[in-house]
Amino acid sequence: MKQIATIAALLFFAAGSGPVQAGEWENHLSKQFEISARKMLHNVSPEFGAPGSVVASRSYRPNYRFHWIRDAALVMDAAVGLWEVSGDGALEKTIWDYVSFSRRNQLTANRSGEAGGAGLGEPKFEIDGTAFAGDWGRPQNDGPALRAATLVHFADLQIRRGQVAAVRNLILPVLRADLEYCAAHWRDLSFDPWEEVLGHHFYVSMVQRRALVEGAWMVERLGDAPLAQSLRNQVAALERQIRRHWNPQLGYFVATLDRADGIDYKHSGLDVATLLAILHGRVRLGPANSFYLPLDSEALANALALERAFEGLYSVNSRDRDAAGARLAPAIGRYPEDKYDGYDSEKLGNGWFLATHALAEFYYLAAGQAMGQEQTGKQQQARAGVLRERGDAFMRRARFHMNASGELSEQMNRDSGYMQGAEDLTWSHASFVTAVWAR
Ligand code: NOJ
Ligand code: NOJ
Repeated sequence: MKQIATIAALLFFAAGSGPVQAGEWENHLSKQFEISARKMLHNVSPEFGAPGSVVASRSYRPNYRFHWIRDAALVMDAAVGLWEVSGDGALEKTIWDYVSFSRRNQLTANRSGEAGGAGLGEPKFEIDGTAFAGDWGRPQNDGPALRAATLVHFADLQIRRGQVAAVRNLILPVLRADLEYCAAHWRDLSFDPWEEVLGHHFYVSMVQRRALVEGAWMVERLGDAPLAQSLRNQVAALERQIRRHWNPQLGYFVATLDRADGIDYKHSGLDVATLLAILHGRVRLGPANSFYLPLDSEALANALALERAFEGLYSVNSRDRDAAGARLAPAIGRYPEDKYDGYDSEKLGNGWFLATHALAEFYYLAAGQAMGQEQTGKQQQARAGVLRERGDAFMRRARFHMNASGELSEQMNRDSGYMQGAEDLTWSHASFVTAVWAR
């Protein structure tokens, strides 16, 4: 969409970061927040795409000029957050366009299946809204679940502004289709968020669970108690499936179970998707939630296991102080055995901005959770401070690899540290925005 010159600057402080604190670090965060918010929105309704489409990156090499359901849902959830604090009318219009574009996606038959049915598992569409005709890892069942959560977020804000009729007419049909798809397909095998392995994935199940819980809450408010009940009825069985991923011997969540197809060299089962699952699978609206939160011992152990795995893997991680002497946490990639270097799948994987930002966001949320605990005494505060500083160390790592103009590609080279892969990946920028909010 067209640049919104004024809003981004206001947002950083409006978003609750408190009074202007002097300091180089806070300055960096606020400046990059503004840049990332702007670059992210630049890729929504791009001038070469349909209104409401979200291009994963403007890059041609690799060609990321598609509307991925997953990327778009995560980006638009951040966009809804920006609208929430800015009230910007042009941004609101763009979000409504995303709702209509999503409806069109749902009603477009494609290689995953028929319109309105199995076709909802399709991972990506052309930026003009037509079906993607190439071979791909299909289906990807995290897409409808993530989109449902974004729609619930937007619907909730619209209802609070009295727009119940618009929510019922425009959002509810899209939301209902996504929720019915989740309810009907959560037991199925799916490709993972990296589009490489067919199986049962902790990430996919966690975001499906969130969709069922938040979705039930929303459709009940809109008068569909039977659908709400049928969604809720499935949560306990889905949670049993999710718990199977925790491996107490290994001390982390095994990303994939029941692998049936796709790449076969992910031997460790370690994958940052399990940490993203805790971020994106977190129930934020509706009933109180206590299922796998950042401060849980499993989630903390999982985060540490990831950190340890990447620490020694990338040579850039041997540097652990920035120029000012502050600690740099390791650059985090997708999974240790990764061979996708941003251009080619037979090379060596690298650190990813969205993965490194995710560790930061995780520790910021853990810090917030520690502060929210009943007795916020001195000890609690000290603990929260330590967790927040861990988050900052990951943000400093990401900063170490970006350039002065605030571009964020998909990856940073494991040896040279230079950015590579799709430039200005929309999701990289969204992940910066949500990490700062969590802070
Ligand atoms: C493109 C996918 O988007 C990426 O996730 C994957 O790693 C490569 N193809 C290689 O399969
Ligand atoms: C590759 C990533 O693995 C996948 O998660 C993403 O959807 C696409 N790139 C587009 O950004």
